[in-house]
Amino acid sequence: MKMDNWPDQVRRLCDILGIAHPIVQAPMAGGPSTPELVAAVSNAGGLGSLGAGYLSPEDLDGDIKKVKTLTNKPFAVNLFVPPEAVTDTPSDELLNRLKNFSDELDVQMPALTDGTPVISFDEQLQVILDNHVPVFSFTFGVPESRHFEELHRKDIAVIGTATCVEEGVMLEKAGCTVVTAQGIEAGGHRGSFGANEDIPMIGSMSLIPQLVDRLSIPVLASGGIMDGRGMAAALALGASGVQLGTAFMGCEEACVPGVWLDALINSKDTSTVLTKAFTGKYARGIKNKFVEGMSGLEEQVPEYPAQHYLTKALRAAAKSKSNPDFMSLWAGQSSPFIKRTTAKELVENLISETGEVILKLTEEF
Ligand SMILES: Cc1cc2nc3c(=O)[nH]c(=O)nc-3n(C[C@H](O)[C@H](O)[C@H](O)COP(=O)(O)O)c2cc1C
Repeated sequence: MKMDNWPDQVRRLCDILGIAHPIVQAPMAGGPSTPELVAAVSNAGGLGSLGAGYLSPEDLDGDIKKVKTLTNKPFAVNLFVPPEAVTDTPSDELLNRLKNFSDELDVQMPALTDGTPVISFDEQLQVILDNHVPVFSFTFGVPESRHFEELHRKDIAVIGTATCVEEGVMLEKAGCTVVTAQGIEAGGHRGSFGANEDIPMIGSMSLIPQLVDRLSIPVLASGGIMDGRGMAAALALGASGVQLGTAFMGCEEACVPGVWLDALINSKDTSTVLTKAFTGKYARGIKNKFVEGMSGLEEQVPEYPAQHYLTKALRAAAKSKSNPDFMSLWAGQSSPFIKRTTAKELVENLISETGEVILKLTEEF
């Protein structure tokens, strides 16, 4: 399928982001979205995104410069909107459970008096502005109006994450140029930030058309899309493009530890769960010993980033020992479709498969 053939809704998104294909590689903080992956996706005509939520301003600056040496095409950098200060004190039951797991891996739990280190969003954003990054995306909330003013002044396209219509409306009003509709199938953290006590749990099939009908800016569909069938379905629901995370974890350019990749390859439809146990924020990943061992304690888990901090050493030790029992194995519900490939092949296959699906449907009607 050629770009000229795309419907207006898609061409509008491609024009805003300066890309040939309406495919965004999801930002994946914590390792998978390497500068090499980001550049390879952008070089293939999609939009690569650097997941920079956990990066210090210095490391972020280095990664952006690395991407720029590998591509001259547009790419995105993604940050986490900072949470409110956490005041919960974890229960003894929760701390004891975490201590038992830590003892099993021979790691030290951080002392609560250490406090939770916070990375400055303002400093991270300044690095993005200084480097003239073409696209800025974010999750977990809405940045302040002064942030939007600075981004607009530099002509940087801005993509926010919504998990329900109310959040999408807030993002458009705040000044986003594009909104990502994150369906409940999605791997990784939920971007939810609205006032709802329970996080929205809306599947992509319902969320995409409701957001498309309410917003006047383009909507990117995200969650459970792994191939041309999913991409064609998203476009049929009115999305202007797609954002895939789990599918891109199968690419050679991504950095995914072997045991995590094996878990993705061997996963099935019921393998993933939503859990707060790793970080204090709901996220979807493959069920393992840690998730099962924390069951019954979800209500006691302190909010992000406190729980993220409490489990950090445990997760790092598990990773260094290639022990998947205590790693956060983030994955979307469609993980069984993951393929070992390159970013270029994945983008090309998505485009050709989507064209075939649309053609087959129209011919058979
Ligand atoms: C390993 C992993 C890390 C993620 N990290 C981020 C992130 O840093 N920022 C963000 O906006 N979304 C993040 N997400 C969510 C993605 O943006 C996207 O919503 C999700 O991957 C879509 O579902 P899929 O995995 O089924 O394609 C992450 C997803 C995964 C799988």
